[in-house]
Order: sequence, then C-alpha cells, then structure tokens
Amino acid sequence: MDTSTTYMGMHLRNPLMVGSSGLTSTPEKVVACRDAGAGAVVLKSIFEEQIEKELGIMSGSSWYPEATDYIGRYGMDNATAKYLALFREASDRVDIPVIPSIHCFGSGKWVDFAAGLQDAGAPALELNAFILPSDPRKTGRENEQSILDIVSSIKKVVSIPVAVKLGNHFSGLSTFAGELEAAGADALVLFNRFYMPDIDIERMEVVPGANLSNPQEAQTVTRWISILRPQLKCDLAATTGIHDGPGLVKQILAGAGAVQVCSVLYRNGLGAMAPMLTFLTDWMKRHGHRSIESFLGSMAATANPAEFLRVQFMKASLEQ
Ligand SMILES: Cc1cc2nc3c(=O)[nH]c(=O)nc-3n(C[C@H](O)[C@H](O)[C@H](O)COP(=O)(O)O)c2cc1C
Repeated sequence: MDTSTTYMGMHLRNPLMVGSSGLTSTPEKVVACRDAGAGAVVLKSIFEEQIEKELGIMSGSSWYPEATDYIGRYGMDNATAKYLALFREASDRVDIPVIPSIHCFGSGKWVDFAAGLQDAGAPALELNAFILPSDPRKTGRENEQSILDIVSSIKKVVSIPVAVKLGNHFSGLSTFAGELEAAGADALVLFNRFYMPDIDIERMEVVPGANLSNPQEAQTVTRWISILRPQLKCDLAATTGIHDGPGLVKQILAGAGAVQVCSVLYRNGLGAMAPMLTFLTDWMKRHGHRSIESFLGSMAATANPAEFLRVQFMKASLEQ
C-alpha cells in the first residue's frame, strides 16, 4: 500500500499532519512528530501582533483577544527572529515538510515577514485567518474581504503555496471559498477550532472552556470538505475532531488531501498517530486501494449530493 500523497505540491509520506499547536512549538517536538509518523507538521503560529510589535507599528488597541493566550506563553520579544530560527532548525532536523503558520486578521506591513519565511526555505505557508464577527459596525462581507485582502497581499510577496485555515462561521462559504481560490489560496484548511471561553458560575469568572475537540465535531468538517471538493481546484485539508483511523479515512473519502490532528495527540500522546496510520493501510488493503489517490474524494458530494446537503430531520427515525 502506498500512503504517500501530494499536498500543495509537496510530497508527503502519508496524509497525517500534526496541526499548528504547542505540539509543534520547538524543533525537538517537530522531530518527535516525525518519529511518531507524521507526514508533515504545521508549526505553532506566529501572531500578527508579535510581528507588528517588532516593526514598531502596533498599537495596544489592535490586540486581538484570541492571541493573548498564546502570546502570553510564547512571548513578544524577538518573535520574528525566534520564529525563523524555529523554522530553520526544525526543517534541518527532519525530512518531512515543516510549514510555518501565521495568525493574521488584517493585511499590514507584517506581510513582508512571509517573504522572510520563504527566503528561509519554507515549502509553503499556512495562514490562520480568523475574524470574530463581534464588531457590529462590520458586515460579514467586510470581514470576508479582510481575509481576501490578506491572501492577495501574501501572494504578492511569496511564490510558495499558501494555505488558508478558516473557521466555519460564514454565511456563504461556497462563494467565499471560490473567492479565496481566485485570490490565490492553494489550499483551504477546514475548520480551525478556536480558543473557547466559559463561565465559572461559582467563582463568577470567565475561564478557559473545553479546548480539546471531540470526534463528533468532525461531522461538520466531513460535510464541508465533501461539498467543497467538487467546487474547487485547490487542495483541502481537514482539521477538528479527527481522533482515529476511521476518522482519517473518512476525511480522505470526503476529499481532504491532508488531515491535521491535534487534540487526540494532546490527550493520548504522539503515539496515537501509529494506529491511525495502521488503520489506513489495513483499510486500503481491505478495499483494494493501492494509493491514496485511488479513493481521495470518492465520497464527495458529487457522489452523494443529497445526503451532504440535507439539513433537516424530516421523518427523523432516531432510536429513543
Ligand atoms: C493548545 C492549542 C493550541 C493551538 N494553537 C494553534 C495555533 O497557534 N495556530 C493555529 O492555526 N491553530 C492552533 N490550534 C488549533 C489546532 O491546530 C487545530 O486546528 C484544532 O485544535 C482542531 O483540531 P483537533 O480537533 O485535532 O484538535 C491550537 C489548538 C490547541 C488545542
């Protein structure tokens, strides 16, 4: 069985990637991901705020709340030099693609940093583009336009492939996905799962919510990968709720050329990847597939349009 695949033109020994997180924040951790079987890794994101602070163009008011947790842990000073060093050392030490990730919410001077990553040898970039639609003065279209502007600006300064990692709250996702592709996105990573706040009702405090996923969350990913696969030419990668071998196979059947995992590794350790890959090989054997390509997207919405478009429980027959 040949589990190798191609993602944004990069050769991957298998489609299982470790998603951007604390699991990929040092060269040692990246080596451990490679040793545990990962086909590629996405480095922990560097944040727009970190880059702009160094350029001296950031005002305190532009801080984006989602970033503060990460920045608190990873620091603001010399962030770009440290990030370039992380990328260089990590990619020198492994023979799998190491993809830097930038968290961004606007196109600014920080975009030039992407060129620095390309010069350092990055094979591709992942943009963690998230705008919480909480500003009542900004329309959904304006938020989408901000992400399109980011992609266009980045594509002006780099020639390497660029993946855009999105949340799942868009009112016209199919249209927007097509626009992202037209703006130059080489892959869409669906869907990011964000830091979640919760309320402690005894201490009357806002506290971190459940920040690791559960497998049911992958159903939204399966639906959208499957719907978008026939509509787009660019690659798709799946993220959120993929915790086991069947989950991995499902996303490839839906149309994901690569599958990113994170929560399952936080819960069960990097050793969780080996049984997923063994399952993939065994499943391919059982179903007579010698390559990933032979079943990639074979269950996408072109094959089963009605099932993936159905949203109502008409004549629901749930067991009680
Ligand atoms: C502790 C933690 C840190 C994360 N940091 C980042 C990050 O820096 N950049 C990013 O794009 N995604 C980040 N993520 C999101 C993951 O890459 C992933 O998309 C998300 O957790 C859903 O996948 P999962 O269900 O396998 O966890 C983080 C997730 C966790 C749990």
